[in-house]
Amino acid sequence: MGVLKMSKVIKGGTVVTADLTYKADVKIEDGKIVEIGPDLSGDEILDAAGCYVMPGGIDPHTHLEMPFMGTHSSDDFYAGTRAALAGGTTMVVDFALPDPGESLLDAVKKWDNKSARACCDYSFHMAITWWGEQVFNEMKIITEEKGINTFKHFMAYKGSLMVNDDEMFASFKRCAELGATPLVHAENGDLVAEMTAKLLAEGNTGPEGHAYSRPPQVEGEATNRAIMIADMAGAPLYVVHTSCEESHEAIRRAKLAGKRVWGEPLIQHLVLDESEYFNEDWDHAARRVMSPPFRNKKHQDSLWAGLASGTLSCVATDHCAFTTEQKRYGVGDFSKIPNGTGGLEDRMPVLWTYGVETGRITMNEFVAVTSTNIAKILNCYPQKGAILVGADADIVVMDPSMGKTITAEAQASSIDYNVFEGIEVSALPRFVLSRGYVAVENGELKAKEGHGEFVARDPNATVNTALSKWKELTAPRPVVRAGIPATGV
Ligand code: URP
Ligand code: ZN
Ligand code: ZN
Ligand code: ZN
Repeated sequence: MGVLKMSKVIKGGTVVTADLTYKADVKIEDGKIVEIGPDLSGDEILDAAGCYVMPGGIDPHTHLEMPFMGTHSSDDFYAGTRAALAGGTTMVVDFALPDPGESLLDAVKKWDNKSARACCDYSFHMAITWWGEQVFNEMKIITEEKGINTFKHFMAYKGSLMVNDDEMFASFKRCAELGATPLVHAENGDLVAEMTAKLLAEGNTGPEGHAYSRPPQVEGEATNRAIMIADMAGAPLYVVHTSCEESHEAIRRAKLAGKRVWGEPLIQHLVLDESEYFNEDWDHAARRVMSPPFRNKKHQDSLWAGLASGTLSCVATDHCAFTTEQKRYGVGDFSKIPNGTGGLEDRMPVLWTYGVETGRITMNEFVAVTSTNIAKILNCYPQKGAILVGADADIVVMDPSMGKTITAEAQASSIDYNVFEGIEVSALPRFVLSRGYVAVENGELKAKEGHGEFVARDPNATVNTALSKWKELTAPRPVVRAGIPATGV
C-alpha cells in the first residue's frame, strides 16, 4: 500500500522564470514540483489569480548572528530567515567565519549550530580568514565532504578578517584545483585603514567619515586586483557587494576578455544613496553605515545598467543587522560603528518596484538576478532557482495588487529600524512556499522554526570545469628543440 500523498496546486497564475512567461498551474507533492500545466487538481488549492509564480528568491549574501566588530549581528538564523520568507526569499547563503588559527571544520560546526532554527533552506560559504597548511588541507574536506564550494576572502577589515595578496593567490589556486569558486569583498584594506586614521585625526569622526574613508577608488582597485589574481590562479571569481562604476567597470572588462567573473549589487546600493550619511540625525546616518558605503546616482545607474545588460549577475542584501544601540558603539569614532544593514525582507518587493515597475529590468531578468543566476553559479540549479518538474517547491507567488509602505514596526527583522523606512512597494508575496510548506499564506507569515535544511553544493560546476579545461590547454609548455636538452648540462 502506498502512502497517501497530500498535494497542493498553485492555480490560475502566470509562471515567470528566467526565460519564460506563461499561464500554468503548478502541482507540488513531498516538497517537490511534480507537474506544471493547465487545469491541475490537488488536495489543497492556492489561488494565484492575477499573480506571478516565480522561483523563490535566493539571497547569496547574509550574515546572521555574525561575530563582528566586538558584537554579533542582531538577526540570527530564526529572525533572519523569517524576514527572508516574509519577503519571498526561500534560501539564504551565509558565511562560516573561522577565527584566526581556527579549523575550518570547527567553523562549519558553529554555523551548523547557529542555523538549526532556520525557517528556510540555507547554505554556507567558507571564509578564508587566515592561511596555512591546515587551511590548505581542510579546503579539500570542506569542498568534498561538507557541501561548500565557495570560499570568501576579505580584502578589507585590516587586522581582523583581511587576507593579503599572497594568501589570496594561494587560496584561489587551491579553489581552482578543487573546482571551487573564490568570492571577494573587494576594498583595499590598507588604504581604508590609512584614510580612516587620517580622517579621525582631522576630527572627521561622524558616520559620514565612513563614506569618505572608502571611496570608489579603493573598491575599483581591489576588484581589478582580485580579478587579475583569480585569472593567474585559473579560478573564476564572484565579487560580492559591487557598489560602484569603478568595480563594475573592472568586472565588465574582465567579462569581455573572456574571464569568468560575476558581480553582485545589493538592493541597498541600487536604491539608497550617499546623502544618507549627511543626515543631521547621527542615528539615521550610523544605521546606514556598511561597507562599501552607499554611492551617488552615477554609480546607481551603472549598477542598474549592469543588471539589464548581464554584466552584473545577482542582487543580494549582505543582511547584517545591528540595533541602534549597537551602532552607538561608534559615537565619536565612525570606525567603531558596526558595519552592516538589513534588507532580507525587502529585497524582492523593492527590486520589483524599482526595477520591474519602472521598466529598468524585465520580470524574467528579475527572476534571473534574484534566484536563477546564483543557483547556477553556486551549483544548486535546478534543485533551487527553477520552476521545473523535480525542482524543490521553493516558490514565491507575487501579487502586483498588494502593496505597503515599509516600516520597522511591521518588519520580521528583530532590529528597531529599517533603512527602507517609508518606501512604498507595489507588489508583495501572496504565498511563499519553502519545499512545499506554505510559509506565507495570503500575505500572512507562518514561518516554521527549524524547517530549513542545509543545501549541499558539489564542486566542479560547468563554468569551473570549462575554465580549468581552458587553463590546462593554454598552460605554459616547453618548446622542444632538436639537440638541446631540457635541463642544463
Ligand atoms: O558592512 C558590511 N557589509 N557588513 C557585513 C560584512 C561584510 O563586509 O560583508
Ligand atoms: Zn561570538
Ligand atoms: Zn563585505
Ligand atoms: Zn557581507
